[in-house]
Amino acid sequence: ARIGVLFGGPSAEHEVSCASALGVARALAGGGYRVVAIGVTRDGGLRLVPEPVLADQIAGTGAERAIDDRLTVTGTAVELRAGRRPGTALVTAAELPGTVHAELDVVFPVLHGPYGEDGVLQGVLESLGVPYVGCGILASAVGMDKVAMKRALRAEGVPVTPDVWFDAQTYRATEDPEKLVVGLRRPLFVKPARMGSSIGISRVGEEDDLAAAIEEALRHDTIVVVEQGVTGRELECGVLGGSRPEASAVGEVRVTGGWFDYQQKYFGDSDPMVVPAGLPEDMTERIQDLSVRAFTAIGGWGLARVDFLYDESAGELYVNELNTMPGFTAHSMYPKVWAAVGVGYQEIVDRLVVLAQA
Ligand code: DAL
Ligand code: MG
Repeated sequence: ARIGVLFGGPSAEHEVSCASALGVARALAGGGYRVVAIGVTRDGGLRLVPEPVLADQIAGTGAERAIDDRLTVTGTAVELRAGRRPGTALVTAAELPGTVHAELDVVFPVLHGPYGEDGVLQGVLESLGVPYVGCGILASAVGMDKVAMKRALRAEGVPVTPDVWFDAQTYRATEDPEKLVVGLRRPLFVKPARMGSSIGISRVGEEDDLAAAIEEALRHDTIVVVEQGVTGRELECGVLGGSRPEASAVGEVRVTGGWFDYQQKYFGDSDPMVVPAGLPEDMTERIQDLSVRAFTAIGGWGLARVDFLYDESAGELYVNELNTMPGFTAHSMYPKVWAAVGVGYQEIVDRLVVLAQA
């Protein structure tokens, strides 16, 4: 089968996506699939990565590798269209609509954050009628929107951190922002409702300026979520499957200096991931059970990584985030937690392609 790997995109996680996509492209090529790499520019245009460039990057022999291990958004401008055969998509030249470059049997969208991970791109793929890897429109949108995600999880009895949310108008109409967060203890985490990768998030301790944190979140979204901080361990669990999803081992992110921000996540010097996390068996099982329930609560399909906060002294465990396209480089948490239970990167990718066609 011929698989279109979509990557890059307009979100702040463009670079992470390019790194994730190289891992996926390598595994697909290794699994005998024909890979067509389609980069999404920061303004949403599609570029067909030339075959020799892709082959070089997959083989790891190109100049790119020395600089950074990721696919590059480059090549001629293309468009995606519904295929002539039902259930396929065509990659055509943007300038010469008659020119067909490739016919895709499955699309693997390896994009993080708004546009690629929130249902927008999934809607485009639905409209083309081509099978695609991962969550559908609804689950992607719910996973990205912290307000909707918490509602869905609470409704299924999955614990999430105490929070309040409000829109920009409500905030502007309030003379004292403290009135919006009554009942929540500091430290608070102030977040845009729909973003990935910790962007726009501020920690507000006793001395910190709540208004400034809200303004920062409002730069990224019109809706702001304020959560009560949970001091404790950051635990992450992978989910893989369709109607009967499975949970992986549990990993831990050992944070230095407060919390795992964007800089540490992708550009830190030390590897902060510990797999398995070193938890009592019943706690591991609880996290696995909650991960599957959270995935089911949003109507997930394919994959997700469920992130937890665990306050050991209080014995409190909360789902903090649900990522429907988690970081997917060879050294990302998602493949690591699966490797710990004997499911390798190659097998994950194979299973996801099969699930896309189920
Ligand atoms: N949003 C990034 C890619 C992650 O959660 O892994
Ligand atoms: Mg995320």
